[in-house]
Amino acid sequence: MRNPGKNIKITANNITVNYNDEGPENAPVMIFIHGFPFSKEMWNKQMAALREKYRVISYDIRGHGNSWSGTDDFTIELFVKDLLSLMDALEIEKAALCGLSMGGYIALKAMENHPYRFESLILCDTSCKADSPEAKEKRMKAIDGILKNGVEQFAADSLKNFFAQESFISKKDVITEVREIMVNTSEKSIIKTLLALSKRKETCPTLWKIKVPVLILVGEEDKITPPEAAQFMHEEINGSVMSVIENAGHLSNLENPDQFNEQLKRFLDNKVGGQKTGGQEKEI
Ligand code: MLT
Repeated sequence: MRNPGKNIKITANNITVNYNDEGPENAPVMIFIHGFPFSKEMWNKQMAALREKYRVISYDIRGHGNSWSGTDDFTIELFVKDLLSLMDALEIEKAALCGLSMGGYIALKAMENHPYRFESLILCDTSCKADSPEAKEKRMKAIDGILKNGVEQFAADSLKNFFAQESFISKKDVITEVREIMVNTSEKSIIKTLLALSKRKETCPTLWKIKVPVLILVGEEDKITPPEAAQFMHEEINGSVMSVIENAGHLSNLENPDQFNEQLKRFLDNKVGGQKTGGQEKEI
């Protein structure tokens, strides 16, 4: 039975998952997956923009926000199992899936392994590629740094790469909010997630199999998963639509929510309205 509201607890895959569930009872379902090391709160503006017409759900990935960590090592596959288990617990047969960065890695893996559970995909500031040897090395250095200097220093270093130049001047409140979420994530969960990210497998070889409508969004100044990574997926996914979000870095939904939400709504409205099924239009 549905239990709408904010900060709801449910058991999924043997842990307590914390989620927000808003919008009309029988509306099409849209699930948001946050990036690392953030929480479901990063989707609040998108939830507010869509909740009149869609049942919108955001949840805290295990070890993040208010969801339990459990005792297993983290892997992208475990995060996918959590997602499917959450959908089962909420009795959701099919949903549109929107993931940013690590959320996108999870969404792509979920789509690869369980394509019949998703009716469309929104990939934001993400990539289908696995970590390069250099990226793995950086993650190991980050783990050493956290063990020596703590999460606050890790957050300060990471924040420098997350935002567009303009955001450091005009979006100070957003940066403070993101920092707050990061430093409230436990050291243990951050380290476990860094290991999971470094071991993740690429999903690029199966992109051609995706048959549902796909929207790809990327901040024009994203330094972590840059527009070239988005362009690559766009070329591989048949009929995908891609749009570059201006004045935004890696957290495009927070840095330019107006443009981000406009693209999201346009995509969902066209898709749900049944006018367009394959997302044939290409914006770039
Ligand atoms: C994220 O935002 O989820 C991270 O930047 C992903 C990553 O470090 O690969």
